[in-house]
Amino acid sequence: MGKRRHHREGISCVTNGGKTTLANNLQKRLPNCSVISQDDFFKPQSEIEIDENGFLQYDVLEALNMEKMMSAISCWMENPRHSVISTDWGNAEETPILIIEGFLLFNYKPLATIWNRSYFLTIPYEECKRRRSTRVYNPPDPPGYLDGHVWPMYLKHRREMEENVTWEIVYLDGMKSEEDLFSQVYEDIMQELAKQKCKYCAIKVDGRGVK
Ligand SMILES: Nc1ncnc2c1ncn2[C@@H]1O[C@H](COP(=O)(O)OP(=O)(O)OP(=O)(O)O)[C@@H](O)[C@H]1O
Ligand SMILES: [Mg+2]
Repeated sequence: MGKRRHHREGISCVTNGGKTTLANNLQKRLPNCSVISQDDFFKPQSEIEIDENGFLQYDVLEALNMEKMMSAISCWMENPRHSVISTDWGNAEETPILIIEGFLLFNYKPLATIWNRSYFLTIPYEECKRRRSTRVYNPPDPPGYLDGHVWPMYLKHRREMEENVTWEIVYLDGMKSEEDLFSQVYEDIMQELAKQKCKYCAIKVDGRGVK
């Protein structure tokens, strides 16, 4: 059996596209599934840059302690079954799955080789604005923050992602219902896991010298 028998999914999108909701729904229903959220790795406010309009520059890679996030991922990879962030362990035979969700995952080069599957949720600007206005962030959004910082950064990062990413990204319509999005991604992960199992069968046969 391959020592590295586990699966890593990435879910990204614009703010309020629904990545945390989707990741949590998947974790509830996938056995041996852990979630790492990029939002847990923001630097303290005192270390966040401020632009000429007074807006805190949160929606950039520099605002995140990515080294710390990489350590959390490495920790999981070394010992996926002992991770404190995991829930329900299900059957010991089930492949451990790590879902990493965040707004800036596919632009970060050190993570480029990690993904078994990458998902990107999209929603239109108006819906993003509507959803964001119902949330209270810490610190709270000052007036004009979405238009003055968050949305332009999203457009910039998305353009960079589309230009630089060399692997397949599965785009998801974030306007679909929570349940539909869950089902679509759940089915897709199940298919990927089945393919991976076949790969391991093939390796085992070769190992025995049976061609
Ligand atoms: N499929 C959906 N349809 C409608 N509303 C949704 C859907 N998924 C999530 N929401 C709502 O949109 C808001 C944002 O969802 P969520 O926190 O999952 O997004 P996010 O991408 O993680 O946002 P953030 O940028 O804050 O990390 C929440 O109020 C949530 O209830
Ligand atoms: Mg979130």
